[in-house]
Amino acid sequence: MSVHDSMIDEDHKTLIGMVNELHDAADLGQDYITLSNILHRLATYTQEHFQREEDLMKSIAYPRFKAHKEQHKKLLERVTDLQKELNRARELVAIETAELLRFWLTSHILLSDKHLAETLHGTLVMSKTEQLPTTD
Ligand SMILES: [Fe+2]
Repeated sequence: MSVHDSMIDEDHKTLIGMVNELHDAADLGQDYITLSNILHRLATYTQEHFQREEDLMKSIAYPRFKAHKEQHKKLLERVTDLQKELNRARELVAIETAELLRFWLTSHILLSDKHLAETLHGTLVMSKTEQLPTTD
């Protein structure tokens, strides 16, 4: 994959290393924080690498500068979108968990735990409790 420019080649090697690191971390089921950190480092490095290429292009008045820069811009936008998707997915899981627990705890406390407490304290009214549904 060498382009025969040592600076660009070194950058590409680093980038591919980070891409592999992200993929391996996902394969190993690493937690959100780990994945998010790698993704953040990768996005930052990609941005820096693109800037280095763009500076080089400007320094030689490269004729394909505009089109090349546009490719960089589109990729960065896509990466930013994916980072937002990852954050949103985490938020959705947190909200879903909170809603599940809110509903479950309310009904469990009112039915099962109340039944347990009334049994413990001898205040259970048998005729009513026999009709109570279970929450498990
Ligand atoms: Fe490039």
